[in-house]
Amino acid sequence: MRLVFLGAPGAGKGTQAAKVVDEFGLVHVATGDLLRAEVAAKSELGVKARAFMDAGRLVPDDLVVSMLTARVAEDDCKSGFLLDGFPRTLPQAEELDRALVDHPVTRSLFFEVSDEQIVGRITGRRTCSECGAAYHVSAHPPKVEGVCDRCGKALIQRQDDREELVKERLAIFRDQTSAVVRYYKDKNMVTTIDADRSVEAISVEVHEILRGLA
Ligand code: AP5
Repeated sequence: MRLVFLGAPGAGKGTQAAKVVDEFGLVHVATGDLLRAEVAAKSELGVKARAFMDAGRLVPDDLVVSMLTARVAEDDCKSGFLLDGFPRTLPQAEELDRALVDHPVTRSLFFEVSDEQIVGRITGRRTCSECGAAYHVSAHPPKVEGVCDRCGKALIQRQDDREELVKERLAIFRDQTSAVVRYYKDKNMVTTIDADRSVEAISVEVHEILRGLA
C-alpha cells in the first residue's frame, strides 16, 4: 500500500499514522520529521528550510520534492509507505505522481477537522526531542509527564506550535493544500474522515479502511 494522509496542521495525521504503520508493514514518511532532522543536523537543506519552518511557511517545493522522492526510492519503502505531510501543493502532487508512475498512490485519507479543534491540539502538543512521537497535554498525555513513552527522552514544544503561528499555517493549508485534496478527489482517491472525534474513534475507522485496502 502507498498511502497519503492529508489534513490541516494538527488534524491528527501523525497520531493516526503511528497507530497503523507497524500493523500494515508501512514506512512512515513524514516530511516535517525529515525536515526537522535536517535542521537539527544543520545540513545545507536544513539551513535553507529552517527560516520557512520557523515562520510557519512551506519550504519551497524543489527542496521538499527532491528530499521526498529520494526517501521513497529507498529499499525499505518498496513494500509500502504512508506519506504524512506530503504532498502539500499541486506541484508536489504532480511530482509525486511522476515519481510513482509504476506504483501509484493507493489511497488518500483526508482528516477533516474544525478550526476550533486545531488551535487546542497544536498548542497542547508535546513532541519527543529524540524520536518525534507526538503527545497532547490532555488528550494524549505520556505516562510520565515530560517523558516520551517510546524512547524515554524529553518532550518539547515545537517552535512552530506557538499560537501566533497557527493562523499562518492554517491559511497556507487553505490556500495551497486544499487544492491537493481536490486533486485527489477528482481522481476518486480520497476517503474523508471526521477528525473532530477522539483518537480512538478515528483509529477504529482508519483500521477498517486500511483492512479493506490490504
Ligand atoms: P509538519 O510536521 O508536517 O506539520 P503539520 O502538517 O503542520 O502537521 P502537524 O504535525 O502539525 O499535525 P498532525 O496532523 O500530524 O497532528 P498530530 O497527529 O501531531 O510540518 C511542519 C513544517 O515543515 C511545515 O509548516 C513546513 O514548514 C514544513 N513542511 C513539512 N512538509 C512540507 C511539505 N510537503 N512542503 C513544504 N513544507 C513542508 O496531532 C496534533 C496534536 O493533537 C497532538 O498533540 C496530538 O496528541 C493531538 N491529537 C491528535 N488527534 C487528536 C484527537 N482526535 N483528539 C484530540 N487530540 C488529538
